[in-house]
Amino acid sequence: MSTMTPPEIVCEDLVRIFTAEGVEVQALQGLNLTVEAGDLVALVGASGSGKSTLLTILSGLDRPTAGSARVAGHDLVALSARERQVYRRDTVGFVWQQTTRNLLPYLTAAENVALPMTLTPRRRPAAERRSRVAELLELLGVDHVADRRPAELSGGEQQRVAIATAVVNGPRVLLADEPTGELDEATSDEVLEAIRHMTTELGMTTLIVTHDPTVAAHVRRTVRIRDGRTATETLRRTAVDEHGRERHLHEEFAVIDKVGRLQLPREFVEALDLRERVRLGLAADHVRVSPHDLPGDDGDEEDR
Ligand SMILES: Nc1ncnc2c1ncn2[C@@H]1O[C@H](COP(=O)(O)OP(=O)(O)OP(=O)(O)O)[C@@H](O)[C@H]1O
Ligand SMILES: [Mg+2]
Repeated sequence: MSTMTPPEIVCEDLVRIFTAEGVEVQALQGLNLTVEAGDLVALVGASGSGKSTLLTILSGLDRPTAGSARVAGHDLVALSARERQVYRRDTVGFVWQQTTRNLLPYLTAAENVALPMTLTPRRRPAAERRSRVAELLELLGVDHVADRRPAELSGGEQQRVAIATAVVNGPRVLLADEPTGELDEATSDEVLEAIRHMTTELGMTTLIVTHDPTVAAHVRRTVRIRDGRTATETLRRTAVDEHGRERHLHEEFAVIDKVGRLQLPREFVEALDLRERVRLGLAADHVRVSPHDLPGDDGDEEDR
């Protein structure tokens, strides 16, 4: 989809290598990702595929080993320490999986939400801060717990208060790393719905990491990371069938990068025992990928 506004998140060939006890781990191996302004995108993938690594880079907490990342017009590789601090305070909001990491235990829900507003130089008057807190808690359906401390809240309530805290300074981008990881299915549905509502209501761009397979129902676009690279994308669209009924369609696409690389799904590779090299054939409307040694293949067969 092309729009006049530049994309809000652009990662190009992002690489992050960790060295732990002399062993190199390639957490990101040339990841490409573009997210348009105003979109809500889910990021899924097996444990260890690099999801948190990506989010930590986008949140300004970590730097890539190579490649580029731009968020809301900021080049994350070039930011100075001071700019990084301002970026983290004003441009991005985050929600972590561990409910305890998001909120201060000795402050009430309302005090937690109000806190980031007192940490910016453009400090609003106290009355305005109070009404902003009340407005957000109400939007998220947790106004009744305003005066309770985190320990007196359910997991879902804590995460909704955490979302309010993350967005109170009006960030352009919201990053959430498994915000529903510790919640049951019904509560997790509520929190995802709250994130979706916030994204539209506040005009943010949101990237949410999740293990939750039902998350696709809440978002238009799901990006799957495999081995530190973007592997496939699932787009959801609504279509009207021949009986005039609305149906939600989920279509999975492989992602192809600037230089034409794509990852074949593991099942395909295994089904045809594709190894080392494959034969490519260009047809009028598709590309054929076949095993190197097709029986009876004399090597110069072409798709016509
Ligand atoms: N600080 C670090 N030092 C060394 N290795 C790390 C570090 N952080 C992450 N890794 C490694 O990088 C890889 C990607 O980790 P990451 O946390 O991004 O995965 P993930 O997709 O978030 O997994 P999960 O779904 O389990 O949270 C893993 O192999 C992990 O062990
Ligand atoms: Mg993780």
